[in-house]
Amino acid sequence: MKSNKYGTKNTFLQENTCELSLEPRIIHCFVMRMETIAIATDRLSKIYNMNRKNEVQALRDLNIRIKKGEIYGLLGENGAGKTTTVRILTTMIKATSGTASIFENDVVTESSAVRKMLGCLPQDAGLYEEFSAIENLDFIAKLRGLKQEDRKTQITNLIKTINLEERKNDRVETYSGGMKRRLMIARAMIGEPQVLFLDEPTAGIDVLVSRRVREIIKTLAKQNNITVLMSTHDMISAERICDRVGVLHKGVLIAEDTPPKIIQEYAGEQNDLEDAVVNLIGWTGDSDEVFE
Ligand SMILES: Nc1ncnc2c1ncn2[C@@H]1O[C@H](COP(=O)(O)OP(=O)(O)OP(=O)(O)O)[C@@H](O)[C@H]1O
Ligand SMILES: [Mg+2]
Repeated sequence: MKSNKYGTKNTFLQENTCELSLEPRIIHCFVMRMETIAIATDRLSKIYNMNRKNEVQALRDLNIRIKKGEIYGLLGENGAGKTTTVRILTTMIKATSGTASIFENDVVTESSAVRKMLGCLPQDAGLYEEFSAIENLDFIAKLRGLKQEDRKTQITNLIKTINLEERKNDRVETYSGGMKRRLMIARAMIGEPQVLFLDEPTAGIDVLVSRRVREIIKTLAKQNNITVLMSTHDMISAERICDRVGVLHKGVLIAEDTPPKIIQEYAGEQNDLEDAVVNLIGWTGDSDEVFE
């Protein structure tokens, strides 16, 4: 494996370039352009309660490009702007300025086309507790206009993927937190979306379920070429399954790269992603505020 001029190893460049002796960053931009971009934002900003006393700038000039089939992790402290980004991209709220698109469809002016392409697990997602897993999935499948045959096939496959076959007919209120979380991911997958937004998919679940959820996300992305944007505080999941991560701090994207490169550049003694993110947030000069 070769090192680039910054002393970092870059497998992405190696796979996509031969023996070119161009500046790595130029090659990187060139390769990104050649590939299909699934999610793009340009100077995306969000101010809540604008011109009021409690005005909050949740997102500031966010520029991201996420390739088709990529798993991208959005990291950052509580209130960093992760959910705000997901909400804008899934057409739930409008940005104050800037633009965002899914496969070149603008999330505001072409919102119905965008909605057809995406599946979403919101941070505050709930399920119909008195329904079974099958009924929950079937209800969403009907809402999305799927034909009976497609509904049956998709639901059978998803129930298998999330390993809920034995309990599929039980009422959701009798499920554990991890079972509910897995069902929520399956629900986001109904209609075979091309882009999946998962806001904290592993929140509140144990290590075994977390591992299972990681496998599910990775399988979906790599076998079905689905693009995944997930926000997470779970650094192990981010490190293990994300192709790239972006670190948000107070609405600003302060770093973006593959987990190994983020670790190499910013981690200290611990040499892991958590350490890198803590250092990064500290480096911006207001770490004390974050931990208050
Ligand atoms: N509807 C709203 N009205 C006013 N302010 C809001 C609203 N939603 C979010 N905010 C504020 O915007 C900022 C970003 O919030 P956001 O939910 O995007 O953060 P987050 O990174 O998802 O945090 P967490 O990790 O806690 O989920 C925070 O300061 C939050 O209080
Ligand atoms: Mg959030």
